[in-house]
Amino acid sequence: MTGGLVRLGLVGCGWIGVQHVKAWEQVARATGGAFTITAVCDTDAERAQSCADAVSRWQENPVRVHTRLTTLLDEGVDALDVCVPTHLHEAAGRAALGAGAHVLMEKPLAPSMDAAVRIARAAASADRIVSLAENHRRTLTVRTLRWLLRDTQLLGVPELVQAQRVRYEAQTRPEGRWRGQRVSGGGGWAIDNGAHLLDTLTYVLGPVESVSAQAKRLRDRPRAAESTEVDEREDFLTALLRFESGTTGIFSCVSSLPGADDFRFAIRGTHASLIDTGAASGELFHAPEPTALVREPGEAPRALAGYFDDYRRSLTDADRERLFPYGLTDDFAIECAEFLRAVQGGGTVEIGLDAATRTLATSLAFYESALAGRTVRVADVLEGTVHAYQDTIRPGPLRGDFAEHRTVLLSPAGSATRRLS
Ligand SMILES: NC(=O)c1ccc[n+]([C@@H]2O[C@H](COP(=O)([O-])OP(=O)(O)OC[C@H]3O[C@@H](n4cnc5c(N)ncnc54)[C@H](O)[C@@H]3O)[C@@H](O)[C@H]2O)c1
Repeated sequence: MTGGLVRLGLVGCGWIGVQHVKAWEQVARATGGAFTITAVCDTDAERAQSCADAVSRWQENPVRVHTRLTTLLDEGVDALDVCVPTHLHEAAGRAALGAGAHVLMEKPLAPSMDAAVRIARAAASADRIVSLAENHRRTLTVRTLRWLLRDTQLLGVPELVQAQRVRYEAQTRPEGRWRGQRVSGGGGWAIDNGAHLLDTLTYVLGPVESVSAQAKRLRDRPRAAESTEVDEREDFLTALLRFESGTTGIFSCVSSLPGADDFRFAIRGTHASLIDTGAASGELFHAPEPTALVREPGEAPRALAGYFDDYRRSLTDADRERLFPYGLTDDFAIECAEFLRAVQGGGTVEIGLDAATRTLATSLAFYESALAGRTVRVADVLEGTVHAYQDTIRPGPLRGDFAEHRTVLLSPAGSATRRLS
């Protein structure tokens, strides 16, 4: 570090890179400038420049622009914010660690366990921090939910989680092309957006022990607008989960069945339930929203947001500073501020490599289970004894395609079968 000022680089100036720049701006204001973004990098020079311009609107120090990460690292940084597509997390993370920089890594940690293990080895030998940039648990909503469940035990013993979103999407969403290819994204909902929900549930209910899942691709969609390549992700994912606590989870995330959209997120306990019917966003990975209702027998329903003040009042000063550093309330800003403080030697990170690897193993357990056609223990994915699905997402021709798991329908006459096309 130069004179106590953390020199920060950022690689990947796409959707999340831009959000991180906004978050770093909030951290800069809150900390009075404890860091400086020395350089940004994107293979797309225009994006990198536009990101640098955005930083320069609130930072006086100049921001250099790179299209190659190695040149950014050669100039020397104390920490790197990694916002590249998932399959590049390992290369970017290991390069940074090898150059002696701490790493803030976007979720998910990697597409596979072996990549996660290699990142962990690099971090250990460099003696540097890797912090997972998982924002959702840092929201006031999810922090309050955890407090309600664990400290007040308002719901009693949580017995059932329902997380269901069924709808029809005619087109793939206009997202980065890498997402629609399993070798780069690692899979679909369970490892991408769903990783947020799995982290939230682990945060509030404890670890998932086992997963019994089915994954299918019912319809072929283009990977991106005007693409002729097929989106390789599942569009039909269902699962039964068992948490180590004994709580049962029922999941379905389906984007290929027409009819009325259906959304339900609920945690049902022995005393009361929390229920979100999707009015706020209809996105399962945002669940629960502040408008979710706590329903206690004999009591009027109360929105989760109605408990925010009680939760805030319950915090000690030390807790408040740890969970909402510098008084920040934006979840992206909180993850950045916490990382910055750890780099400065002032604390640990909330989601280090162990927790990040565990969430990744939970995501991958969905696909390992779907491929194996049996219940899979998260511990077996974590320990590397179950990896058949991950073997199919290495570079090379796609194997074990979800299309092979298409639903076979009975013909109207009931005598023959036909496949969806
Ligand atoms: N926390 C969240 O809410 C959230 C939201 C979206 C994405 N993400 C995660 O962030 C990561 C990026 O997702 P995104 O939506 O921003 O993707 P994106 O496609 O919008 O952006 C990725 C950027 O990386 C750049 N890039 C690709 N290869 C590069 C390389 N070798 N060197 C430098 N730059 C390179 C691309 O040009 C692009 O600008 C993924 O891991 C994703 O899972 C997290």
